[in-house]
Amino acid sequence: MSSLQAIKYSRGKLEVLDQLRLPHSFHYDVVSNRSEAFDSIASMRVRGAPAIAIVASLGLAVELHHQGLAADSSSEAIAQIDQALDYLKGSRPTAVDLSNAITQLKSRIRESSEGTKEDIISAFIDEAEKIFAQDLTTNVAIGDSGADWLRRYAGATAETPVSLLTHCNTGSLATSGHGTALGIIRSLHSRGLLKHAYCTETRPYNQGSRLTAFELVFEEIPSTLITDSMAAALFRLQKDKANIAAVVVGADRVVRNGDTANKIGTYQLAVLAKAHGIKFIVAAPTTSIDLVTPDGSGIAIEERKNEELTQVTGAIVKEDGTIEQGSKARVATADQRIDVWNPAFDVTPAEFIDTIVTEKGAVEKSADNTFDFSRIMPERWAKVVTS
Ligand code: MRU
Repeated sequence: MSSLQAIKYSRGKLEVLDQLRLPHSFHYDVVSNRSEAFDSIASMRVRGAPAIAIVASLGLAVELHHQGLAADSSSEAIAQIDQALDYLKGSRPTAVDLSNAITQLKSRIRESSEGTKEDIISAFIDEAEKIFAQDLTTNVAIGDSGADWLRRYAGATAETPVSLLTHCNTGSLATSGHGTALGIIRSLHSRGLLKHAYCTETRPYNQGSRLTAFELVFEEIPSTLITDSMAAALFRLQKDKANIAAVVVGADRVVRNGDTANKIGTYQLAVLAKAHGIKFIVAAPTTSIDLVTPDGSGIAIEERKNEELTQVTGAIVKEDGTIEQGSKARVATADQRIDVWNPAFDVTPAEFIDTIVTEKGAVEKSADNTFDFSRIMPERWAKVVTS
């Protein structure tokens, strides 16, 4: 199991790795309350759909552990926690894990509504800790299901190991550990079925070059970094030689028909994969599935600041090419007067996706180019689709 930890937690204490400083410096922020959790998420010091939900839940759990609630009744306590959760929901809009965690936390505290304020607070903390603990188990299951799928449908064997391309960061830095799409790469590597991993830079925030490259090198997984614009040439020139079998990506929101929102640049990789006969795999915990929204047209896409595209931060490279440890510089990479369009995510229509790998198994595309999640999530499906 990777020892990289984006989130360190024990009851009453939460530390979050500042991912804006990676890969050149390792610094954990102490997060003690809802507003510090909100800021850590909105500034993208922590990012990745599962990690966003975990930090929001545990950030409030730490606050409640130390400060309790100034409520005179259980109903007032529930109302105050609801308010805090609705505030945290506003930190970033696209990733659905946060909303699903909030729904789970709200229903759990209501189960203790007959109890005291203290009962409600401990129910909240207990559920937040469960969300954190469940995530690692989920990711390992996704890794195994994805590796099994690649054995069955992409001919991955020890004799014919396959190469994969991934986009953004979906590893231990985006979750509580192991990762989703990067978890499949890890599981495949540990089974001796991985030939090579390619990762895109993932402009403009460079989650690929700053975070995924770091995780792959850290774990000595054979890997190569490319720019987002090189994928087509990689498929055309290297597909056979490197046995590139699939593109594997994460998800911020998979909606009812299978349309999937993920990091900007995912959709173009799906189109390219289809054109080159390469499989396109979405790795998504069921916490990233939104059964309420029928198709991709209903997904709110976050737009971020111009400067996140026209400027970049990094460590200083000395004359001799070595990195000046602890240094940091922000540079402009474009004329700051230019207008900018900076959507953080895009939507890949279900028809471009071959399988959606969850912790409950891989869901295959139906003949009508959509996905049916009723089999793997019967309760949630019944609640949403028949109501
Ligand atoms: O803007 P980010 O870095 O939060 O975007 C992250 C992604 O798009 C990931 O692919 C997704 O959240 C899945 S992380 C397991």
